[in-house]
Amino acid sequence: MDLSTYFIDEEYGFLLSNPLTVLPKPYQIWVEFARNIVQQLENHELRRSIRQLPLISEDAGLQSYKQLRLGRMCLIFIVSAYMWQEGDEHAIEVIPMNLAIPLYNISKRLGLKPIISHADCVLANWQKIDPTGPFEFSNLKTILQFPGGRSFDSFVLLTAEIEMGFCPGIKAIVKALENVENENIDELIGNLNIMREVIQVTADCIFRLHDECDPHVFYNEIRPFLGGYGGDNSPFPDGVVFEGVSDEKFKLSGGSAAQSSSMQCFDEALGIHIQPEKKNFLIEMRNYMPPAHKSFIEALARAPSIRQFVERAENERLINAYNGTVAELKQFRDSHIKLVARYIVCMSNKAKRSAGVRYQAIEKTGTGGQSPMQFLKSIRNSTSSSQLSNT
Ligand code: HEM
Repeated sequence: MDLSTYFIDEEYGFLLSNPLTVLPKPYQIWVEFARNIVQQLENHELRRSIRQLPLISEDAGLQSYKQLRLGRMCLIFIVSAYMWQEGDEHAIEVIPMNLAIPLYNISKRLGLKPIISHADCVLANWQKIDPTGPFEFSNLKTILQFPGGRSFDSFVLLTAEIEMGFCPGIKAIVKALENVENENIDELIGNLNIMREVIQVTADCIFRLHDECDPHVFYNEIRPFLGGYGGDNSPFPDGVVFEGVSDEKFKLSGGSAAQSSSMQCFDEALGIHIQPEKKNFLIEMRNYMPPAHKSFIEALARAPSIRQFVERAENERLINAYNGTVAELKQFRDSHIKLVARYIVCMSNKAKRSAGVRYQAIEKTGTGGQSPMQFLKSIRNSTSSSQLSNT
């Protein structure tokens, strides 16, 4: 498997490598506008000034992949800010054509849904402070921001660091599949151990979020701008209209790290059996990933099964290595569940107790009608029960 075929970077994995920060004229106006969102939201001026943005319907001047990603990211940030500027009650059902048409067209060229996603908010939204320095939190800044200041930056950049951390694990998965084909047990043990270490390091990163990102700020100031369109608790249950694109309404999921390709790669590579209705949600999230990344996960699902090879080999060291990696994945999910308990469940309970909540829609679940916690715990339990018995 050649990673570059799947738009997976040798150094940065699923992250977009060195994203652009400038677009050619006339598109640069989107960058300048998007970089000013937070201030305009504070002044409640954003909707008025968006209506004055020119309609640039022709996107042919954006030629490279990175230009398209930056153009899309700017439009995505502007649209989210437009929709949610005044909370749920005053959310607007129609995306104006000066944003809707270019966003729709560019997203179509990229094979992405025309709504905010992990691919925009995290994968393409980082820049090194010192370009010659390392890729680490202290040397990173975001390109575009929503409100939330330091908490927003930490939420995005630590998640980006996790994606970067997963990169050696993705390479180890590819090698592990070769080991299965060549029946090379020793090397397979080595690659399973690399996968385990990688997951352990990224789980540590999850803990750092607790120190750097304020749950109150996350819940009340950041999360609203990640909202989707449509569904029972949404201010627009039938979805939203993209003016000038179609009269039909679009129902779309909002941004979530459930759209990260990394964890789904580990699940497929390790043969984690997830209950069908939970898996359906994860499969649906693949439609919000860059198409090449989705294809990579699908290729892993079709590849010879590492799990079945481990079962057949009846080698104690191999089974231990496999189980160790699965245990680490379960541990990662435990840490993630703690994050969700603190950043969503506690904050949602607090919000229910206090009057004047501006954003009801964020209570909704995108996880097939069940609470996010039930969903996450079920996947965590499926992970731990995927361990093999060592008899
Ligand atoms: C404040 C931080 C975070 C919060 C509040 C949060 C919340 C959630 C929620 C509510 C879900 C359920 C699905 C949904 O509603 O979209 C979810 C799923 C998921 N999240 Fe997060 N998340 C956070 C950070 C992260 C990070 C840093 C990662 C790592 C890349 C991550 C990876 C995932 C994955 C892979 C899923 C799918 C379920 C699974 O495979 O276990 N999340 N998250």
